[in-house]
Amino acid sequence: MRGAVVAAVATMLCAASAAAAAPDLGEIVGADTVAASDLGIGPDGANLPPGRGTALDGVDLYVDKCAACHGLRGEGASGPALVGGAGSLASSKPLKTVGSYWPYATTLFDYIRRAMPYDRPLSLTDDETYALTAYVLWANQIVKRDTVLDARSLPRIRMPNRDGFVDAWETKQQ
Ligand code: HEC
Repeated sequence: MRGAVVAAVATMLCAASAAAAAPDLGEIVGADTVAASDLGIGPDGANLPPGRGTALDGVDLYVDKCAACHGLRGEGASGPALVGGAGSLASSKPLKTVGSYWPYATTLFDYIRRAMPYDRPLSLTDDETYALTAYVLWANQIVKRDTVLDARSLPRIRMPNRDGFVDAWETKQQ
């Protein structure tokens, strides 16, 4: 019995020293790989890339790449509705959409670029993403059809439900 315990401890010690010598934590990735996955956009627009687009630029893209799942007018199909629900959040049937619920327009750019189209994520260019962001905002009557969205203008858009959210981080610091 004592021998077995000593053997087990010895095995653990060997394993620990092997781990210390070669942690085997993977490979060092290059700057290109880091940049390609560094996609997070802050609510204030931090890290938005260069590029631009309007809702008019986004119409054909939306019809080609989005409408099959979200409906021609964003009313929803197999994918959720992107439009509508204004004023419904406090009702017995709240409809949470980009227009009625999302507090920041910058999140829309982040989400579309990283996750859509659902079956081909990360396939859109930054210009296409600005145009599709503009299209979804236009469909929600938040921007005009020729409003140019880019890294400067997108963070300035005030979403209808902005005040429906509390910044827990700011509140804690007070
Ligand atoms: C193959 C179907 C499909 C296609 C094509 C598609 N989507 Fe989606 N989309 C979805 C599904 C499903 C979800 C919900 C995903 C989830 O909640 O995890 C979604 C979620 C979204 C959301 C978040 C909605 C919310 O309120 O949570 C947005 C915005 C969006 N899609 C935009 C787009 C845009 C823009 C395109 C075109 C570039 C597109 N989608 C193409 C299926 C699709």
